[in-house]
Amino acid sequence: MPQKPQDKSFTVRRARAADARALNTYVREIYGEEGGHLITRPDEFRIGWFGHRVRLARRLATPYETCLLAIASDGQIVGQIDCWTDGRARVRHSTTLAMSVRRGWRCRGVGTALLAAFIDWVATHKTLRRIELHVHADNAHAIGLYRSFGFELEGTRRRAVQYEDGRIVDDHIMALWPKKG
Ligand SMILES: CC(C)(COP(=O)(O)OP(=O)(O)OC[C@H]1O[C@@H](n2cnc3c(N)ncnc32)[C@H](O)[C@@H]1OP(=O)(O)O)[C@@H](O)C(=O)NCCC(=O)NCCS
Repeated sequence: MPQKPQDKSFTVRRARAADARALNTYVREIYGEEGGHLITRPDEFRIGWFGHRVRLARRLATPYETCLLAIASDGQIVGQIDCWTDGRARVRHSTTLAMSVRRGWRCRGVGTALLAAFIDWVATHKTLRRIELHVHADNAHAIGLYRSFGFELEGTRRRAVQYEDGRIVDDHIMALWPKKG
């Protein structure tokens, strides 16, 4: 697992329902990024802060899901990682993550700290064993981060994503088993 010098300018903690308003603003900003690698476009993100609060509260109440935040020393949210788990018994051991770091805070170890905390959470979880994610083939930074933690490429959805400028890219499925077996 990658080691980073201790950066005291941010901390990682579990989200709380009270974070919903700030988180809604944060997510809106991430989706609005020019040239971003996420699927959702800003006009497709219609959930307001109250809806976000309900969604967050539901996620935090589910034992198979979580939401972790990176918080700067001034209190602003600078990164997020969360996950979604299909609760049906045969697939409940596998959770799907999504993550982002605020522009201006990237390449400073925030993504590494969030992912390390998330992997620890899964590694000590009673039921979860496998972490899955989807990443666009042209997102070299994210793929570099995932590989550094041992995520392996499991499959590729060919030409599954089309950007506004017409470029079509593959979508990789990567996975990690923090506790083997
Ligand atoms: C992907 C993302 C979450 C990474 O967060 P981050 O805080 O910048 O990550 P870190 O600073 O911890 O960097 C972690 C690792 O990424 C890798 N990395 C960084 N820049 C890279 C580059 N240009 N090419 C390849 N790998 C790179 C390295 O392994 C790096 O570790 P190192 O600094 O020890 O070399 C962030 O860039 C982001 O939010 N991007 C936009 C949203 C997004 O793409 N989310 C992922 C969707 S699947």
